[in-house]
Formats: sequence, C-alpha cells, structure tokens
Amino acid sequence: MFGARCLLRALRSCSSAPCPRHKPTAKLSVRDALGAQNASGELVKVQGWIRSVRSQKEVLFLHVNDGSSLESLQVVADSSFDSRELAFGSSVEVQGQLVKSLSKRQNVELKAEKIEVVGNCDAKAFPFKYKERHPLEYLRQYPHLRCRTNVLGSILRVRSEATAAIHSFFKDSGFVHIHTPVITSNDCEGAGELFQVEPSSKIKVPEENFFNVPVFLTVSGQLHLEVMSGAFTQVFTFGPTFRAENSQSRRHLAEFYMVEAEISFLESLQDLMQVMEGLFKTTTMTVLSNCPEDVELCHKFIAPGQKIRTYAKKQLSNWGADLHTEHEKYLVKHCGDIPVFVINYPLALKPFYMRDNEDSPQHTVAAVDLLVPGVGELFGGSLREERYHFLEQQLARSGLTEAYQWYLDLRRFGSVPHGGFGMGFERYLQCILGIDNIKDVIPFPRFTHSCLL
Ligand code: 4AD
Ligand code: MG
Repeated sequence: MFGARCLLRALRSCSSAPCPRHKPTAKLSVRDALGAQNASGELVKVQGWIRSVRSQKEVLFLHVNDGSSLESLQVVADSSFDSRELAFGSSVEVQGQLVKSLSKRQNVELKAEKIEVVGNCDAKAFPFKYKERHPLEYLRQYPHLRCRTNVLGSILRVRSEATAAIHSFFKDSGFVHIHTPVITSNDCEGAGELFQVEPSSKIKVPEENFFNVPVFLTVSGQLHLEVMSGAFTQVFTFGPTFRAENSQSRRHLAEFYMVEAEISFLESLQDLMQVMEGLFKTTTMTVLSNCPEDVELCHKFIAPGQKIRTYAKKQLSNWGADLHTEHEKYLVKHCGDIPVFVINYPLALKPFYMRDNEDSPQHTVAAVDLLVPGVGELFGGSLREERYHFLEQQLARSGLTEAYQWYLDLRRFGSVPHGGFGMGFERYLQCILGIDNIKDVIPFPRFTHSCLL
C-alpha cells in the first residue's frame, strides 16, 4: 500500500509512455484547430468524419467534424486526392499544415498533405443526406447514427456541459456528492411506478428472491440522501432514475436523470427555493457562456423565437385537486411565461415524507414545485417531516410503518429540520433549448413500448 505522499511522488515521477525518437505530428481536435491563434503552417493531424465534400477543378474541399465543436474544420487538398472514398460520413485522418484561411467563413484551414480514409461510408445507404435538415422525429429512428448530425451533436455537447456545470454548482456551494443506489427496496414516491429487478435465470430455489426482498430500480435517491443528511449538512446526487409510467408524453421517460439535493438545518421553503433558483440560473449561465453556438443552433432551427428569460419570481398558493399539465401551462402563461413556484399542496396528494403545515381545514404540506414554460413541472421538492410523532402517524396512515422503521430511526437519533428537491435533467435541457420532445435530449430514450439498442 502507498502512503498518500508516496503515491503522489510516484505519480509525478513515473511514466509508461516510451520516449519517441522523432517528434510526432501534433494531433489536434477540430475545436483546438479552429481556435489556433497563430496558424502559421505547423504540421498537425486531425481525425474525424466527413461532413461535406466539394470538388473543384484543381482543389478539393472537405469539412471534417470530430464532435468537439459544431463548426467543422475545412480541409483544402489538391484535386489529385479526390476519390470516391472521400464521401459524406466516411472517417478520415488528415495530416497537413494549419494555415490562416483566405475565406471570411473560417479563421484557419488545414492544407492537406496526406489523407487516409479510415472507414468508408456508403453515402447512398446512409440515412442522413448531406445538406438536408432532417426532422428530429426522423432522426429518432436511428439511435445508433443520429449523434452524427449537427443538431444531436449540439444537444449532446450542451448535455455534457450542463452535467459539469451542475456538479460545479454543488461543489462551489459546499455540497458533498453521494452515489445513491440504483437498486433499492423502497418506493420513495409511493406511486407504485416501479420496475422490479430479478435475475434473468432463477438461481437456486426459483421462488426465492435474489436479495431476499423484492427490489426495484430507484424512482428517487431522496431517502438515501436523507440518511446522509444526518451526517452531512448539504448533499446531492445526480443519476439515472426509473419510472414505469405508462406514458408516451413528450415529457416522460421510463429512464431519466435526476439531480437531487438535501439540506439539513433548513427550515423554510423560501430557503429551499433559493437553492433551486440558484442551481437553475448558475447552470444556465454557464451553459450559455460555454457553448453559445450549440444553444443558438437549437433556438434557430428547432425552437425559433425561444429565448431563455431571466425571470421575476411569483408565488402562488394553490389549493384543491392535483395539477395536470393543462393547469401547469395555464399558471405559467398567467404569470407571463416565466418560471413559477407553486407551494403548499394538499397533504392527501403528496407522499408520506412531506412536512405537515398544520393548517386545517386545508391541511397542506410544505411542498414546492417549479413550473417552467413549455415543459411544466421541472422541480419537485419539500420540507421533510422531521418530527417523530408526525412521521409515525403519516407512515401508519400509508401502511408503511414496518418497512420504514429505519426512516423513523433518523428522527430518533439527532433529527434536524431539513428539505430537498429533485430536478428532471432532461426536462431542464428541454426548457433551456426549447426542445419539444424529451426523447431528443437523451442519447438513448427508453419509454413505453420502446427500448432500442
Ligand atoms: O416530483 P418528483 O417525483 O420528485 C421526487 O422524486 C422527489 N423525491 C425528489 C426529491 O425531493 N429529492 O420528480 C422530480 C422531477 C420532476 O419535477 C420532473 O422534472 C422529473 O423529476 N421527472 C421526470 N422526468 C422525466 N420523465 C419522467 N417520467 C419523470 N418523472 C419525474
Ligand atoms: Mg412531482
């Protein structure tokens, strides 16, 4: 075993890479090549897929993309390089000189000295055509190929950037990241929308459960985060979440990603809403400043007219039956098409863990949803019932007393007021990019009657 200092020393001093005899040609990503400040003829190598081919009498123009940016790198080659293999979709490795471009369209271009076709592409059979803008529904039929289009490229880069921004937000705010389990024996939301997990071939005694108890794919990491909030005052998790909702709607998936946070010693919905708002605003500003071209592409071609608005906060206290999509839409519109917090829902509509507001005759719990234009519910959160006897009653009412003894224990041993929320990550992306269907913001969508690949 290494001591920590010893490990650090070893990492600094050792390298498994052999010493090259000749200085190798620098390999550049398209993004780095495009951003090169002094392109004065240095020899570089770029790898990627051909996005366009234009053959003139004496020169051949290729555009090569490697997923690092929306913009492709222009490769200029002598017409002697021209071949049928240099087709839309083929993968290539190009070596040459990075030079300043004469055209206003790009700063730099690659003057090819060597072009190697790594993999051919039968452009006729390839489902996407050069220069054609295919509708998102069409692209959805090709989950194994659609990442090669500009639009999916942009969405997936934004997704990656937003993931990093969310982690940064929590890290910068002092939260500890917890890996909550994917397999669990609880139904946090109590809605019965569970996928059960079993071995595919029954091992040993067929009627026995692998884990001795029935287990499911998680519908929320909240209860595990609540365990952690007995020792850490701020925790978060960000992982896959599963709901067996029989819905084909444009905002439901069977597998989606949820960002969840739990904060100890938190006593008001106001304070919780501040964190929700902070997460939304900070993440969005980071995404906008780090990938403006990708966001712009979505706004321009998918959701013309869509703009991310900075918003004023309005609050509504709602009473009555549960809100349906139409009600959510109405509320958002009524408030001027801005994000809207809705607070204090009837106790009867909400899960057992929410804090009783003791406000009969309405009898509400301290719950909060954030509704946003075009999507509806983006966040769901609440103060948690930290008082032993209230929780005991709630569990008894829901018939959960036996299963949730461990949860009651959390209220016996150093209980604190606390609260938290969950934000649907795909709905967040839909909201900031103006994308109508949730299936287009996740690489491999899973929903009722469909699990391609
Ligand atoms: O409102 P929900 O059900 O809240 C919870 O699960 C809490 N336990 C979270 C917490 O407090 N830690 O789900 C949170 C969010 C929703 O507001 C929505 O954005 C998203 O998760 N969501 C879905 N997204 C895509 N497909 C589905 N089927 C979704 N169900 C919920
Ligand atoms: Mg909800």
